This record gives sequence, C-alpha cells and structure tokens, in this order.
Amino acid sequence: MNPSPAALANANNNAKSTGARRRRWREVRAEAWALLDSVVADGARVAVVGAGNGDDLPLGRLARRASQVDLIDLDATAATAARARVRGIARRRVRVLEGDATAGEADAVIAAARRGAEASSGAAAAPHAAASLGDGPYDVVVLDLVLTQLLYPALKGTMGGKAIDAVLLRHGQRVTDAVVARAWAATREGGAVVVLHDLLGWWEGHEQPFSIERLLGLAPQEALALAQQGSLPYGCDPWVATRRAGAEVAMTRTWRWPFASGADYAVFGLVTRRRPAGAAAVTEPTAS
Ligand SMILES: C[S@@+](CC[C@H](N)C(=O)[O-])C[C@H]1O[C@@H](n2cnc3c(N)ncnc32)[C@H](O)[C@@H]1O
Repeated sequence: MNPSPAALANANNNAKSTGARRRRWREVRAEAWALLDSVVADGARVAVVGAGNGDDLPLGRLARRASQVDLIDLDATAATAARARVRGIARRRVRVLEGDATAGEADAVIAAARRGAEASSGAAAAPHAAASLGDGPYDVVVLDLVLTQLLYPALKGTMGGKAIDAVLLRHGQRVTDAVVARAWAATREGGAVVVLHDLLGWWEGHEQPFSIERLLGLAPQEALALAQQGSLPYGCDPWVATRRAGAEVAMTRTWRWPFASGADYAVFGLVTRRRPAGAAAVTEPTAS
C-alpha cells in the first residue's frame, strides 16, 4: 500500500518543531485557552483534530479540565510526543488516535492531481463518506489549525503554484466541508465545534495590504471584513463549511501566531454551535 501523501507531508512539517518554537508559541496557547475556557466544561469529552506536536494548545490545562482528550492526527508520532509532555495524572486522560479527518478524500485528490488527472467531484469520498471521526460523541471538537493543511503540504513541492491553486479552488472547499461535517457528526447535541483557523499570513514576499497589528486591533467582524482585502488561502473557508453543516459562529477571538522568525499568521478562533431547528442561516462575511 502506498503511504498516504498527506500523512507524509504533514509528518515532515511536524518534524520541524523545536523547543524554541514551543516557547515562541506560549502566548498562542494562552490565547487558545481564553477561547476554550468557557467552552470546555468540567468533565467534558474533547477531541483535538490536527493536534500535531501540541504546541499551539495548552494540552495540560485541557486535560485537567476534561475527562477525556483525544488527539486525532495523521501523525501519531507527533501526537504521542505531545501527550508525553502532559504532566502528572492528567496524561491518563489523553489518548492518541491516529486518523484522517478527510477519510481518504484528501489523498484521493492529491494522488489525482499528481497524476495530472481530475479527482471526480465527490466520487473519491463516496466509499468513506460515513467514516466517523475519533471515538465520539464529544462535547467539544477542536479543529486545530488543520483546515489549511488538508491538501496544501502534499501539493507543495510536487507542482507549481498555479496548479496548486487550481486544485485547491476546485476541491478544497468540498474536502473542508466534509471535515467540518464529520466534526459535527462526532459532537453530541448541545456541544460545540471550535475552529482555529490561520486565515492570513505575513512573510517576506507575501505581504498583505494591511498590517497584522491593524487587523488584530479590530473587533472580529471588522477584522474578517478587512481580511477579505488580503491574500487568503483557497478552498478552506470554515465560515462556509460551518453554515453548510447547519451551524453558526457563536464567538470569535483573533490572535497572532508567530509561526517562525519573520512569519506571522492571524488566527481566527471560532466557537460554533448548531443552529436551532427552523432558524435561518445568518448571512455572515466569509473568507472566500
Ligand atoms: C499546522 S499543524 C497544527 C498545529 C499543531 N496543532 C501543533 O501545535 O503542532 C496541522 C496538523 O494537522 C494534521 N493534519 C493534516 N491533515 C489531517 C487530516 N486529514 N486528518 C488529521 N490530521 C491532519 C497534521 O498532521 C498536523 O499535525
């Protein structure tokens, strides 16, 4: 069996984590906790999809609050190391579940794109469409900076930028919608799906028409409106996917993710809840 291209590419990225990165992301963990604190009740069952090295979430705090924290990732090696860093008895509440949130759909798109073929819309997903995520039902499912990483890492380096854009524009949102729908299917009634999303990046050669400071100084709705004047990732819009899943954004926080020296992302942290039965979808700004 061929190794999963998405898993290989993401494991390569995860292997670049260092202690310096973990220290640099300390404030990012605090920001994530400021969002999760009011959402994760005592004894909650929580899944973190895209937990990776566990550098961007305070896994120890989460495990002390929750009764169970399942780290779901393509890269079980990184997640196992993240679990090992949780101190004390809380570690027993953390499990690593190797799994693909796209249920094979991302790999089908990537393989077809590398062959220069076209993954037929939806067909790749059909055999796996009902595949469940983790070991739900969960009170809270966190999609942890994962939506931008479903297709891009495996496409990068194997084809040119324009070809990557074409694949993301054609298939990305469908794959993203399926992941968000699967997160909701794994969430119990009354629960929440929290989406942490790296909406905008700044680095040399990839500037935005406004500064990250200006964006983060705005209220979330205004920040989202301004973000739309910038260069956004293609085919991974969590606002669209949330609406299509019958849910809505109940709370938003934004923060800086100092990814590497000279590279910053603006993270939008969204707490999403199911729309009450019969309620119409609110038209919100989307990122795409
Ligand atoms: C940018 S990292 C997120 C940062 C990570 N939470 C950390 O602190 O290291 C994205 C993570 O999503 C995982 N991932 C990508 N595609 C996935 C998929 N289809 N299913 C599950 N995890 C996936 C990657 O392996 C990686 O660990």
